[in-house]
Amino acid sequence: MTDAATEPRLPAPDIAAAEGKLGVVCVGLGAVATTFIAGVELIRRGMAEPVGSLSQMGTIRLGKRTEERAPVIRDFVPLAALDDIVFGAWDPFPDDAYVSAANAGVLDTARHLEPIADALREIRPMPAAFDPAYVKKLDGPNVKSDRSKRALLEGIRADLRDFREEHGCDRMVMIWCGSTEVYIEPSAVHQDLDAFEAAIDADDPAISPSMLYAYAALLEGVPVANGAPNLTLDTPVLRQFASDHGVPICGKDFKTGQTLVKTVLAPMFKARMLGMAGWYSTNILGNRDGEVLDDPESFKTKETSKLGVLDTILQPETYPELYGDLHHVVRINYYPPRGDNKEGWDNIDFFGWLGYPMQLKVDFLCRDSILAAPLCLDLALFLDLAARAGMSGIQEWLSFYFKAPQVAPGLYPEHDLFIQQTKLKNTLRWLMGEEQITHLGVEYYADDYLPED
Ligand SMILES: NC(=O)c1ccc[n+]([C@@H]2O[C@H](COP(=O)([O-])OP(=O)(O)OC[C@H]3O[C@@H](n4cnc5c(N)ncnc54)[C@H](O)[C@@H]3O)[C@@H](O)[C@H]2O)c1
Repeated sequence: MTDAATEPRLPAPDIAAAEGKLGVVCVGLGAVATTFIAGVELIRRGMAEPVGSLSQMGTIRLGKRTEERAPVIRDFVPLAALDDIVFGAWDPFPDDAYVSAANAGVLDTARHLEPIADALREIRPMPAAFDPAYVKKLDGPNVKSDRSKRALLEGIRADLRDFREEHGCDRMVMIWCGSTEVYIEPSAVHQDLDAFEAAIDADDPAISPSMLYAYAALLEGVPVANGAPNLTLDTPVLRQFASDHGVPICGKDFKTGQTLVKTVLAPMFKARMLGMAGWYSTNILGNRDGEVLDDPESFKTKETSKLGVLDTILQPETYPELYGDLHHVVRINYYPPRGDNKEGWDNIDFFGWLGYPMQLKVDFLCRDSILAAPLCLDLALFLDLAARAGMSGIQEWLSFYFKAPQVAPGLYPEHDLFIQQTKLKNTLRWLMGEEQITHLGVEYYADDYLPED
């Protein structure tokens, strides 16, 4: 596929029907996963609306503006029905989804957990492939006993097969909703399959649990979305493996709060050619994720993901006078009283005509998991759609959902939220054989543009 309107278009693929059950397995049954699962259950019982889900509530314009064709996305593309989703999870803590959701404290117990307690209690986490060396602030008893990496990999594969059989799933999708692992640089072991396989056998520390989950999923033909900033499958070996084996993948790090705002505001400064001296972002967060990120090594993984967006959007190398001396700082502070209700502050020092300085300040009181849950739903449905359409490897059109989108080698990621949205919707149009929307629109002014006969 290509961005350039001048290049020939690939024909739209055939899409297999979304028949049967879709197993959605979450690695990690914490705040995000339980808010996602509970939300889907409430929605399918008619007790809530899918607010925040583009696939369920968003519309897509087709054809000319005068045609007034704008179906809801879920009616336009053949997505799995919410009633056909079956949930599973792994977690080192043995709590079922009801207990874990209550502990996370995101949803109101009486209003949103009690009425669906039966369904939530049925979701009990499978023993995790967990190693506290990669998530230093946590340890739990619900873990696989054989800790060798090879045994963990085979254990996850067996879990996937058992889950598929037990629940009669026709298709499956894996979403990493687990904690942020310590920072790992891509190295020689992540380059090709021989090296990767040898590293698994050697219990090499460069192979983290999230890589084992992702590789197990790919081996079982299960698409993977990575909601955390971990390296996981953003490596040459797993990118290639996914392409070669026809499995769609995407990541990294759900774009939910501060970075969502950043990737809307930064393009505005850039579009107006306003300069920037600094952007200081800080957060207070009191959930388990905040506790994990209090460890400097996990924070480094998150920091790298959060810092990347500004440089790509502002292009300091192209505009040195405007962005060549930009100070970009990101902080996350663990502050238990706030729980999941994060507060993020941004202070932007920018300058305009003749260099006169100005400031913009954002105080975002958000709810982390409330923002992330609908992303999990969209990603599960769109990855399953991609698989049924025969799309494999990196799904760049799902960049819309990520802070650090995975892209093909040699490409820079698109961070601007509205470019990402256009890319996503144009991909859906392409999948369904509809025309791309270029926003050129000269045809509406034919009398003004075309010479008279
Ligand atoms: N909420 C958001 O807005 C948001 C945005 C971007 C990214 N994220 C990321 O999503 C992830 C989940 O966030 P959360 O708030 O639900 O965190 P959480 O701490 O509530 O849940 C994470 C769960 O993962 C489990 N876990 C850790 N390692 C595991 C392993 N190897 N196998 C199985 N389970 C494992 C933990 O025990 C925990 O229950 C985090 O990495 C977070 O950084 C969240």
